[in-house]
Amino acid sequence: MNILGISAFYHDSAACLVRDGQILAAAQEERFTRKKHDAAFPKQAVEYCLREAGLTAKDLDLVAFYEKPFLKFDRLLHSYLAYAPAGLRSFLMAIPLWIRERIWMKDLIRSELDYAGKIIFPEHHESHAASAFFPSPYQEAAFLTVDGVGEWTTTSFGAGRGNQIAFDSELQFPHSLGLLYSAFTYFTGFRVNSGEYKLMGLAPYGQPNYVDLILRELIDLKEDGSFRLNMAYFDYGVGLTMTNSKFEKLFGGPPRKPESRLTQRDMDLARSVQDVTEEIMFRMARHARRETGLGNLCLAGGVALNCVANGRILREGLFDNVWIQPAAGDAGGALGAALLGWHQYLGNARQADARKSGDF
Ligand SMILES: [Fe+2]
Repeated sequence: MNILGISAFYHDSAACLVRDGQILAAAQEERFTRKKHDAAFPKQAVEYCLREAGLTAKDLDLVAFYEKPFLKFDRLLHSYLAYAPAGLRSFLMAIPLWIRERIWMKDLIRSELDYAGKIIFPEHHESHAASAFFPSPYQEAAFLTVDGVGEWTTTSFGAGRGNQIAFDSELQFPHSLGLLYSAFTYFTGFRVNSGEYKLMGLAPYGQPNYVDLILRELIDLKEDGSFRLNMAYFDYGVGLTMTNSKFEKLFGGPPRKPESRLTQRDMDLARSVQDVTEEIMFRMARHARRETGLGNLCLAGGVALNCVANGRILREGLFDNVWIQPAAGDAGGALGAALLGWHQYLGNARQADARKSGDF
């Protein structure tokens, strides 16, 4: 049985082909188009996966798209309406694209692929969790998914057992660790959804001078790692930028202009938000360990690309083993969706392959 997983239309479009539970091919569209983070329908990545498997789209048994377009639209509509009229401008800019590309996703996928068969739409964080747990070397594991936002969910944890993943709890938009990190990425003059790794790399050059301010003003962080952001400082719910003038006032001036000289403030901000991120990830992982009682941890979601925070979780020794999906961002959603189709939707058994642990 051949299942094609697809992620597309936000950033990092990708395709993945799974045959009888085995990953045969997976690729990100940017590798073919040479457009970094290409968000277009992954036409060439799909062609590559089919070619590797010696198939055409007509041979596919199932297509799995990595999120639910209607639920995502619901989130956009609700957040724009909640903030109206401030959000009206960005809403009006976004809606034609949504109507054209996302509401009619099923038709779009059918016509792009020339495929008439079954299509499933797992939730965004189900795809992340599946991408973390199913390829892992564990028969049982806790999972933690952390990103900017999917439909509504921004963070989740739960347990994977055999061929099933089950969610314990989640945080929802606008309260998002990924978006907090992206807000500082924007504010320090880097590109959102792209330059986060630069912020992480800048952190060791700075001092954690703003940690207390961030924890006092921007975020209400609980012992279990759950949190609420103070939306008085952020603009992503309503406007076209990540932060607002109140945020500028708090950190002593406007955002750094892209490509201009980096200052000590930028470095200190990078270090501070990195420290806060590590603390939140640590608390979330500790909570997942306590709640699930499981000794293995799997991570995915764009924040799981923050290898420094992952290193902290590993060093703290909360879990016996930690496994991170290499394509932790949305590209990996294609892989998660396809494996979710095979194991959870079709109910096929799963035997974890301990050889993948890297310990052998
Ligand atoms: Fe994501």
